[in-house]
Amino acid sequence: MLEKDIKKVLVSEEEIKQTCIKLGKQITEDYKGKDPLVVGLLKGCMPFMTELMKNIDLYIDIELMGVQSYHGGTQSTGDVKITRDLDIPVKGRDILIAEDIVDTAKTISVITKLLKYRGANSVEVVTLLDKPAGRVVEFTPKYIGVTIPKEFVVGFGLDYDEKYRNLPYVGVLKEEVYTK
Ligand code: IMP
Repeated sequence: MLEKDIKKVLVSEEEIKQTCIKLGKQITEDYKGKDPLVVGLLKGCMPFMTELMKNIDLYIDIELMGVQSYHGGTQSTGDVKITRDLDIPVKGRDILIAEDIVDTAKTISVITKLLKYRGANSVEVVTLLDKPAGRVVEFTPKYIGVTIPKEFVVGFGLDYDEKYRNLPYVGVLKEEVYTK
């Protein structure tokens, strides 16, 4: 049913799986001897964080933060609203923020600054998708899964008006879906 609204598949299930294996290996190597705190940004991070975690062979802790940046449309409003804060202090921790997509980078720069302000030892970002053509704020995530063009995508955590997060792949939404 959902598939009829998708113009094309941009990142397949298999590609996502392989990407998470690659990112997990790299993170395991880079954080050797450390116990990083992986902070997922809800709700988009859910499928990605789940798949990524399986491939990190370290004593990680996980936390979730609720962040809203889009409010039903396909353009970022620039407002970053924290809807759920972390349950634990981050002072002295090595934090890895898990994000579904970095577009304007407004969300990730606000959250990175906040966690540094709270005394984190280090803050890095792992994102499944990077859309560099959408940048408004200068920001390069340390770990990037797949770089995509400036198109509005849904699936594997990414939504349009809270829908399509449950698609097992990342696809481009047909324009008629959001222009009707
Ligand atoms: P940024 O602050 O513009 O980098 O946006 C980050 C957030 O905007 C992501 O976590 C997504 O929730 C949302 N977002 C950005 N691009 C897309 C997209 O193509 N599809 C769905 N959501 C998106």
